[in-house]
Amino acid sequence: TAFPPAPPKDYASITPPYAHLVRQLETVRSVLGARPLSLAEKIVYSHLVNVEEGLAGGDPIRGEKHLKLRPDRVALQDASAQMAILQFSTCGRDRTAVPVSIHCDHLISAYEGAEADLKRSIHSNQEVFDFLQSASKKYGIEFWGPGSGIIHQIVLENYSAPGLLMLGCDSHTPNAGGLGAIAIGVGGADAVDAMTATPWELKAPKLIGVELKGELSGWCSAKDVILEVVGRLSVRGGTGAIIEYYGEGVERMGATGLATIANMGAEMGATTSTFPYSDNMRRYLHATNRGPVADEADKAQAAGFLSADAGCEYDQHVSIDLSTLEPKLNGPFTPDLSTPLSKFGGLVQDKGWKDELSAALIGSCTNSSYEDMARAASIARQAKAKGLNVKSSFMVTPGSELINATIERDGIKADLEAVGGQVLANACGPCIGQWERSEKKGEENAILTSFNRNFKARNDGNRLTMNFLASPDIVTAMAFSGKLSFDPRHDELLDAEGKPFKFDPPSGDKLPASGFTAGNTSYLPRAVPEPEPSTPLAISPTSTRLELLEPFDPHFTPAQFADPGAQLEFEDLRCLLRIRGKCTTDEISAAGKWLKYKGHLSNLAENTLIGAMNDETERVNSAIDFATGQEGTIPEVAKAYKARGQPWMIVTDHNYGEGSAREHASLQPRFLNCKVILARSFARIHRTNLTKQGVLPLTFADEADYAHVAAGDVVSTSGLDALLRGHLDADVDIVVRKSDGSEKRIKTVHGLSRDQVEWISAGSALNLIKQKAAE
Ligand code: F3S
Repeated sequence: TAFPPAPPKDYASITPPYAHLVRQLETVRSVLGARPLSLAEKIVYSHLVNVEEGLAGGDPIRGEKHLKLRPDRVALQDASAQMAILQFSTCGRDRTAVPVSIHCDHLISAYEGAEADLKRSIHSNQEVFDFLQSASKKYGIEFWGPGSGIIHQIVLENYSAPGLLMLGCDSHTPNAGGLGAIAIGVGGADAVDAMTATPWELKAPKLIGVELKGELSGWCSAKDVILEVVGRLSVRGGTGAIIEYYGEGVERMGATGLATIANMGAEMGATTSTFPYSDNMRRYLHATNRGPVADEADKAQAAGFLSADAGCEYDQHVSIDLSTLEPKLNGPFTPDLSTPLSKFGGLVQDKGWKDELSAALIGSCTNSSYEDMARAASIARQAKAKGLNVKSSFMVTPGSELINATIERDGIKADLEAVGGQVLANACGPCIGQWERSEKKGEENAILTSFNRNFKARNDGNRLTMNFLASPDIVTAMAFSGKLSFDPRHDELLDAEGKPFKFDPPSGDKLPASGFTAGNTSYLPRAVPEPEPSTPLAISPTSTRLELLEPFDPHFTPAQFADPGAQLEFEDLRCLLRIRGKCTTDEISAAGKWLKYKGHLSNLAENTLIGAMNDETERVNSAIDFATGQEGTIPEVAKAYKARGQPWMIVTDHNYGEGSAREHASLQPRFLNCKVILARSFARIHRTNLTKQGVLPLTFADEADYAHVAAGDVVSTSGLDALLRGHLDADVDIVVRKSDGSEKRIKTVHGLSRDQVEWISAGSALNLIKQKAAE
């Protein structure tokens, strides 16, 4: 097929400002003295708006200081971009302050195969794509249309670079760390900070150092490294920390393997993961037409910017010997439940699970590199030579058109299709629940994926589908057995003639020997487009999918702030419910069929907390309206409160908001009049997102108090007044009034920074940006 030539690359826009960063690093060293710095510290601190001010007083910094940073770039995907752009559009700017890219990937569903799926999905999401394209034109954003690929793969291929500080509105943004960037998943309101040159605040992360010794071999791949790390550290183990890898194992892995590892750091709640600049990263930059970026990175490295200083210290340390690592399967329902392949068959038996694999899925943003696909194809070729086809359904999601076109040219796609594989569009599809699966509805069944996340119902909407995460190699090999208990390292299959046959370990090149081929270049955006401010944002007033955003009302009036006698306290909030156990952003704001309302807050709010378990009624999506005594769904009761002008709060369990940067999970409760969320603990991104929208996140000082606030209780704050009037060390308690008139005072911890307090005072971070712009 003849495609138009690819637009020339604008290297200036994709090269981190190394000369500036190296100068900043010198200032960091002069402020912190002789102490050795880790790589993450170098990158993060050199992006401070003001190094002297940000690091004033020196250590302790990690886990203590709130840093004001200047990110280099922003990436948005079609689901989260809608709200980010809607928020940005209220700030009165003509262009974005840093380069921004938008990627249309989440809204493409998988059903019949790439071409038909893409056509159907474009048709059903046309108004959203039109809106994003109009915004891209208006503000000078690079627009990657449907079919171009998945945000993280495209960012790795085009924008990520060693030493870059990037924000992305997607929790797997850290994928870009595979090229030595610090890439952090945030909500749209944080992205708006970077897009408006408002200093972006981050509590200085702690550091987890992971040493990778030895070398991977046989059936082990980068995926098994991260499955091991998640198993060791747990889903909360990375909270508030950057995971920094080092050691000979890092040097030996390709940039895309490192990206897989960085990608799934999100599964531990880590701020991000990163790696020192390596020869393999340099090769990847050259292979993806970014030689000039590699040359500049080489110079920055010569100045000591892109690797850790010898003797730097980590807050926690993990060591993994890759030479003795075993493939893993993690799941079901949580990514940290890690089982070595040799024990998995026994687990299936012990648990009484049906020994049947119903679907095998490889690819996605996590594992669709050339190397992943080449290794999977090496397994497929072995099977084909023995006359075998897959026994379970087998789907392949290429991460980008670059991968898709290159594996097609190199015969890899044909190898995968020849054994029964179905190649889907270059998009998220089944990874985000956009899988119109016709089989196993409502039935317990097991699937294997090389994706990153395996919460209940994540892939096919069926809460009984057990999703195990494994490397593309293991997923592919097991598809030929159709059994969960199969261990391709030792077990034999029968070939077409009934003779026993055993797979050799997979193999595949890290990079294509003949280079990448761009494929359909019509997908490529215009390089750094000039903004066209007269372009109207394409939103129909009758749309059910897009709605202009109304700013939230501040909690208190300027007159109340001006009056020292006025008490700035939340009073008479009703406790809507007490949530038990895991409550991820999927449970707070479900994806799947709801994805279509990402740009329409009032319609999306209909799904608020529908996956949450009510600790008192012991039912999912159940709440009691205190005024009527009637049980309803959570959104029904929340809407009734809003309609009556009744502000409310909720009590939640551990790691509330775990899982993703989905900011709708904070926008929706705020929209429905939630003022306070009182948790045993919060996931980092979600906690920040709540404060950005003006919801006050409080943590129990004593976790046992969780049981002392119940639905229908009347709750007021005590101490918020002092906090909002600038006393950061003020304690905020809550006073709980029961229906019998008794009262209980409960101690909480707020941990808010000065900026966060200002957001709550203004009613939202966006209100504050507007206020400041007007000053
Ligand atoms: Fe897409 Fe996120 Fe999966 S970017 S491929 S949904 S992890």
